[in-house]
Amino acid sequence: MSQKKRLAIFASGTGTNFEAIVTACESGRIPAEVVLLVCDKPAAAVVELAARHGVETFAFQPKSYPSKADMEGAIADRLDKAGVDLVCLAGYMRIVADTLLSRYGGRIINIHPSLLPAFPGARAVEQALNYGVKVFGVTIHYVDQTVDGGRIIAQRAVPYEGHDLDELFTLVHAAEHELYPATVARLLAGEV
Ligand code: GAR
Repeated sequence: MSQKKRLAIFASGTGTNFEAIVTACESGRIPAEVVLLVCDKPAAAVVELAARHGVETFAFQPKSYPSKADMEGAIADRLDKAGVDLVCLAGYMRIVADTLLSRYGGRIINIHPSLLPAFPGARAVEQALNYGVKVFGVTIHYVDQTVDGGRIIAQRAVPYEGHDLDELFTLVHAAEHELYPATVARLLAGEV
């Protein structure tokens, strides 16, 4: 019998995408197990969510490392120790750099709340709303040395012609919570 794949999720905030992936694993919709949460904000709500789901957490203060390379080296060591096959960034608000890419490149994916290549970087939903966009969306892509510029794996459009940021966030999140678990499942099945 083939062994379940082992996922790590990196998150910095609320963790709704973390929970969407974890519950999809728990229910068997993703044939994998989330074995590690990596979090650069020890007080973030996602840490509590991980505890509730019995997921081991590596939470750290970035400033406690002398350099970003040291911090990423420590993260990669934890990924090695946990035997991680795939890393899913889910609201991890840091740029992944050379140390992690040299050890896990090609095995790190990210979700971004816009139809890339439009609106990379921070506050993508606000940027798009301010621009007057009428079709918003979500992208899942491989992570490389660019900011939100890696090869696109999946996208979903979110049509919205209103002006209410909260309402728009609700629609974008709903799309994310469907698309991310479904894409991870397809990736693991070798379908993308
Ligand atoms: C998500 O909307 C995700 O797309 C975004 O952060 C949010 C995290 O929400 N990521 C980025 O903006 C990355 N550039 P969550 O903590 O509820 O999953």
